[in-house]
Amino acid sequence: MKPITFNNTVLRDGHQSLAATRMTTAQMLPATASLDALGFGVLETWGGATIDSCLRYLEENPFDRLDQLKAATPRTPHMMLLRGQNIVQYMSFPDDVVEAFVRCAARHGMDIFRVFDALNDARNLRTAIRTVKAAGKHAQGAICYTTSPVHTPAKLAALADELVEMECDSICIKDMAGLLTPRITYDLVKAIKSRHSLPVIVHSHETAGLALASYLAGIDAGADAVDTSIVPFANGTGQPDTLRMQAAMTGHPRAPQYDTKALLELRKYFEGVAKELTKFMSPANDRVDSDALSYQVPGGMLSNFRTQLVEMKMATRFDEVMAEVPLVREALGWIPLVTPTSQIVGTQAMLNVKFGRWKNLAQATVDIALGKYGRPPGPVNSELQALALKQSGQALVTGRPADLLPPRMPKLREELAAKGLPVSDENAVLFAMFPRETEAFYLPKPAAPAPAAAAQATITPVPVAAPVVGGKVSRYALTVNQRRYEATVEALN
Ligand code: CO
Repeated sequence: MKPITFNNTVLRDGHQSLAATRMTTAQMLPATASLDALGFGVLETWGGATIDSCLRYLEENPFDRLDQLKAATPRTPHMMLLRGQNIVQYMSFPDDVVEAFVRCAARHGMDIFRVFDALNDARNLRTAIRTVKAAGKHAQGAICYTTSPVHTPAKLAALADELVEMECDSICIKDMAGLLTPRITYDLVKAIKSRHSLPVIVHSHETAGLALASYLAGIDAGADAVDTSIVPFANGTGQPDTLRMQAAMTGHPRAPQYDTKALLELRKYFEGVAKELTKFMSPANDRVDSDALSYQVPGGMLSNFRTQLVEMKMATRFDEVMAEVPLVREALGWIPLVTPTSQIVGTQAMLNVKFGRWKNLAQATVDIALGKYGRPPGPVNSELQALALKQSGQALVTGRPADLLPPRMPKLREELAAKGLPVSDENAVLFAMFPRETEAFYLPKPAAPAPAAAAQATITPVPVAAPVVGGKVSRYALTVNQRRYEATVEALN
């Protein structure tokens, strides 16, 4: 029997799930020689939130990152996560922008495009998959796994038929919320394998502690590869750790043979990177969180929710809002909860609790009810749909949503030129998705301040103006190079 293949996600989903996507190219490069030598099936290195993060937080050109990573790992195929017609954003783009993006990524060396749609609407995958194939690259169609009365294993497996019909080269069962169970994984893989001969890959998250067991079951059902990562960018809300997964397969006829010593060294290296990213990492992400199962919502959505409820002064109504979530989801045709639909359903649930059910509709709720995101898996509630039609004054979208979007590439090139930005397809597609961030990237950066020859710092305690009840306050005045800063330190008992 063929040993199972491990893909490695540490350079994309690993740090996206556990460190807010903040790993820089400079932090990745020292690990690339070893990652490349280990013989993983693929390295997931790009797409998802990494492109947004490069531009928004890291002052990196995402295409430069891809070039550098490709040059550093020539042996292993690279994979990216692509949100179909949304590319790597939250809204739909015209076909010509999707095509230009795929061609650019292919030209920069991307090998495998894992394409998914939040609604599992195959029409939203078609343009991306067709362009990947035309570029001579590997198209992997993804089925988003979720639980609902309309998401039967048979129906999910039927999506595989559509992916095969679109000439996908492989199929991924994508479990973004970690809701897959071993038995369901087994049945899904078997169902797809019994109908099609192409490779099946299982992707899950350890959020609820089920991913490793689900992988084992998927492997027994004939899965060809599973996605793993490397601690500390593994387990918890990320993929199972490679070493842990390999250990779990000891004695299995398909046990793989990845170099344990090299993996331990990589782990040590990434522990150093994690120290640099501490402020983006939270122990809550490492915890096995059965809340994700009882509420049937992704773990990340729960923490967002708590913050949003506090902001809306509704912190005491958490249970009511949680009870409203499945109702909103059902009314919107049981859409899977994955970005951006998780945010949309959560927000509408809060509005329903605060103002009364359907009394205040968010624009995105209206858009989903009208079919602007695609065809929801089940029927949309007729009362909600009538309200959405009335509020928007628009008609239902029954065709493919992108058919309503006029081409944008010529206009994007003009906009780049008008702003004095370098005109290229790469910049046009980045500008389409992240206009402000792309523009800011090309703005001349203020020169770094020259290091002070000799910084003179003095710290003087100053009298505290008013005592704080039940606490201690210390106030310091700090003088650096003749400039005075004041700092207050509070310690409440
Ligand atoms: Co994932």
